[in-house]
Amino acid sequence: MTHPAPDRPVAGDWLALRAPADAEAREDTLPLIERLVRHWAQLSPGVGEDDPVVVVDLGAGTGANREWLAAHLPGPQRWILLDHDRDLLEQAVASAREDAADVVPVLAGVEQLGRVLEEHPARRRLVTCSALLDLLSREQVQELARVLARNGVPALFALTVDGEVHLDPPHHLDAPVLGAFEDHQHREELAGTDAVRLADAALREEGMDVEVVPTPWWVNDQPWSQPLLRRFLADRADAAVEHRPDLTAEAHAWLRTRLVDCARHKLRATVGHADVLGLPRVS
Ligand SMILES: C[S@@+](CC[C@H](N)C(=O)[O-])C[C@H]1O[C@@H](n2cnc3c(N)ncnc32)[C@H](O)[C@@H]1O
Repeated sequence: MTHPAPDRPVAGDWLALRAPADAEAREDTLPLIERLVRHWAQLSPGVGEDDPVVVVDLGAGTGANREWLAAHLPGPQRWILLDHDRDLLEQAVASAREDAADVVPVLAGVEQLGRVLEEHPARRRLVTCSALLDLLSREQVQELARVLARNGVPALFALTVDGEVHLDPPHHLDAPVLGAFEDHQHREELAGTDAVRLADAALREEGMDVEVVPTPWWVNDQPWSQPLLRRFLADRADAAVEHRPDLTAEAHAWLRTRLVDCARHKLRATVGHADVLGLPRVS
């Protein structure tokens, strides 16, 4: 069987830099997890504590979603880690094994979700992802909703960027550079910063109950904020230049100024994200 290869691989060190900001942001998602657990209890009141929950993590990367979420889900769990990037998946599996977690790696694209669910039946299941939806095409987001509804499986799509970025103090080049970055995220029919709205609409259209909560990053002067901000700014400038070569001089000037702000501990950033919970209706 041939496996897909990512045409724009995600850098593993970026995933490590963002993990502490994600973990802080995810405190806001705890009520969604409580709601999910109540849904399982209502759906399968007879299922014992020893019966493992099966969790499919789409776009698992190096496994940060499992590392955070496993501690917030009840009882034994089997994690199916799916990613189309072999290197990242190997890191996720190695770290899961260190935690003695029950994991099954799947080297595949998200379009394999239907097959994965067929191969892993269970009374309590969840399909989750973090920081993935904006990287999918609009059609892929809609197809995910169809597969989830057809299989009656809840979804927790965590930490999708929503396009809200506020840098403090402001700079007159924030708008053009960040705007070009956002346009870059929408290239080739990608869902980009529409992903939360698209997922919400697609799940509702499939008859699921949906709740969306904001899970923004608040980056001020935490111990991890400097390297994260530096990389965040550089990635935005690079993507802006790739999308709008005519903005090269402005993007480079913006990056230089912002890196100085950062080094002086003057820069604060709020980066909008949202979590989406989709629950099949219980009749
Ligand atoms: C931004 S990273 C997030 C990784 C991880 N969930 C986290 O929160 O650290 C997105 C991940 O999704 C994977 N990915 C992107 N598009 C995918 C697709 N169509 N099918 C499978 N994996 C995909 C990438 O390889 C990458 O590991």
